[in-house]
Amino acid sequence: MTETPEKDDHRTGYDFVVVANRLAVNRVTSSDGSTGWQRSPGGLVTALAPIMSSSGGAWVGWHGAADETLEPFDHDSMHLHPVPLSEQEVEDFYEGFSNGTLWPLYHDVIARPLFHRHWWDAYKRVNQRFAEAAAVVAAENATVWVQDYQLQLVPQMLRDIRPDVKIGFFNHIPFPPPGLFAQLPWRHSVMKGLLGADLIGFQRESDAKNFQRAVRARLGFYIKSDRVYVPLDADAAAPLEGFTADPARGTAPRQLSAPAEGTYRGSEATAFPISIDTDRIVELSNDPKIIARAAQIRAELGNPETIFLGVDRLDYTKGIRHRMKAYEELLQQGKLQVGTHTMVQIASPSREGVESYQRLRDEIELAVGRINGEFDTMGHTAIRYLHHSYPIEEMVALYLAADVMLVTALRDGMNLVAKEYVAARKDGSGVLVLSEFTGAADQLRQALLINPHDIDELKAAIVQAAVLDREDVRKRMRSLRRQVVSHNVQRWAEEFMHRLHQL
Ligand code: F6P
Repeated sequence: MTETPEKDDHRTGYDFVVVANRLAVNRVTSSDGSTGWQRSPGGLVTALAPIMSSSGGAWVGWHGAADETLEPFDHDSMHLHPVPLSEQEVEDFYEGFSNGTLWPLYHDVIARPLFHRHWWDAYKRVNQRFAEAAAVVAAENATVWVQDYQLQLVPQMLRDIRPDVKIGFFNHIPFPPPGLFAQLPWRHSVMKGLLGADLIGFQRESDAKNFQRAVRARLGFYIKSDRVYVPLDADAAAPLEGFTADPARGTAPRQLSAPAEGTYRGSEATAFPISIDTDRIVELSNDPKIIARAAQIRAELGNPETIFLGVDRLDYTKGIRHRMKAYEELLQQGKLQVGTHTMVQIASPSREGVESYQRLRDEIELAVGRINGEFDTMGHTAIRYLHHSYPIEEMVALYLAADVMLVTALRDGMNLVAKEYVAARKDGSGVLVLSEFTGAADQLRQALLINPHDIDELKAAIVQAAVLDREDVRKRMRSLRRQVVSHNVQRWAEEFMHRLHQL
């Protein structure tokens, strides 16, 4: 940082700027009613905080309340620049285009994406606001790192205002196969928005390839070794949105060789699998209070032989219904017994204004009620269902209490819960059942990998996890831990930043 800017003037601004839908702090209310800010506990904030404090960083994001404009402020060695959203924008940009259009489309259309033009208009307007805010706080030649699917237009919008800054983008969720992405009426604008970044990071190799294939097929740009050659006159080179008079229906002629020097700009699209703050989880798992809490959880559940644990945001991508169906059938068939086996399902409230999430909650709670009604005994429950969010300390106690972690997502960018469970199991015990449709499955190869759509396979894995030979459990967990311990979120951030500066 050159010096603290009084009026967010970019001649003095911040050398490192993160732009994310959510600000890095949460508002907290103390017992006397006064409000303040607390740093968000998430891995992203933890990973970027050290870079923030060493390089003079600013974080641009929405503070979570509608119809409220806040002045920029400093907290915990970070400059925070809140971006306001009106109630209508929360509906159209956040619940609408981000979570009613992009989220289902990018997660294999598990739910039907809705395409509304007024949602798209709000998305463009809000992305422009984030880009302008970033342009105001970034110092000359600053590095700006834009996060996630809510802000895919920001890289190009920012480049248009501030061609001097270096721009990175990271997509935390999957990028869909070109055939699905093609459904998006505004696909060209989204690709061009992303290509405004110098480096576009994805969770998996397959996500990066999906993006490259879409760019090649739709925009025709030449791509070699993850490098997209974006023509400097990209608007002229690429077909316009909704340009259907072309017999190829909006596809561009493919460039078969690298364009001449000086006529393009490079944008690299590559995989950087995110991880967790491993040290923090390990430290918590060594804390005697948390170890005691884990024992207490087991006792409260009646000391069953095997505790199965699911921890998810209440989201249709997480495969919670599939998990319950498998569990119910195993109880019906007598392969699991209430009392000997218990399942704990934490479902943290999420996006409660979106209809598909409301429907999902009803379905899951109906299933839990049915299963418990049928199989509970006076003293024991089949599924302990908790619709709450918990602090990380309680989560780690749950990880320590659980013999088996069930991650059955139908599609998931990464799934950090799987990595947290592994980090917490330092004694080498514990089995991870992991969906192959998570990003984590690329790295955690020693988990019991399953296809959650295959209920019989899922059932077999649940039973296998409960009876797996101790030595096998240890061997698998040791190998999983090696991966998670050596690839933490700090390393992820360093590798991304290193590559961005190389480019
Ligand atoms: O996985 C994508 C993500 O945006 C995460 O970054 C975030 O923790 C989660 O989804 C929930 O996001 P939100 O509550 O902001 O919709």
